[in-house]
Amino acid sequence: MIRLNILRVMAICTVAILNTWGQVRTAASTSQTQGHDIYERQCATCHGTEGRGDGPQSISLSPRPGSLLSAQISAKTDQELMRIIANGKPRTAMPGWKDSLSDEEQRAVLAYIRSLIRFSRTMTPPPPH
Ligand code: HEC
Repeated sequence: MIRLNILRVMAICTVAILNTWGQVRTAASTSQTQGHDIYERQCATCHGTEGRGDGPQSISLSPRPGSLLSAQISAKTDQELMRIIANGKPRTAMPGWKDSLSDEEQRAVLAYIRSLIRFSRTMTPPPPH
């Protein structure tokens, strides 16, 4: 009888854990897709699809958007980048997004930028021939 109860508790726990895990995974992938969508729609025209600063609009800008994959940007904290995304960058074409994107959307797009860094091809130039 006691054994049966233990088994039942274990079964319930397993279901609960799997459930939570599923929810966390879904939430993570939702914000990943959301970040991707926002980036493609709002940012890629200047920053380029891969974040290299080579979007179609970049040619006409001064200063041009830098590469979001650079060591300089990677080294910045989430807070610093969130501030730039929210308020824009003075004296550049970078607009502030706090009025058009919610906090959650800004965080999602930042997460997407970070993922570009992680999945980008090697940054070291090929050796000379
Ligand atoms: C109209 C063009 C334009 C659009 C659209 C744009 N940016 Fe920018 N962004 C810039 C420019 C220009 C800079 C400044 C580059 C510099 O300071 O050298 C910049 C800088 C940044 C920086 C700081 C990196 C740095 O070089 O200091 C971040 C982060 C950034 N943008 C994210 C975004 C995100 C996220 C979006 C979309 C929600 C976006 N940008 C949309 C033009 C744009």
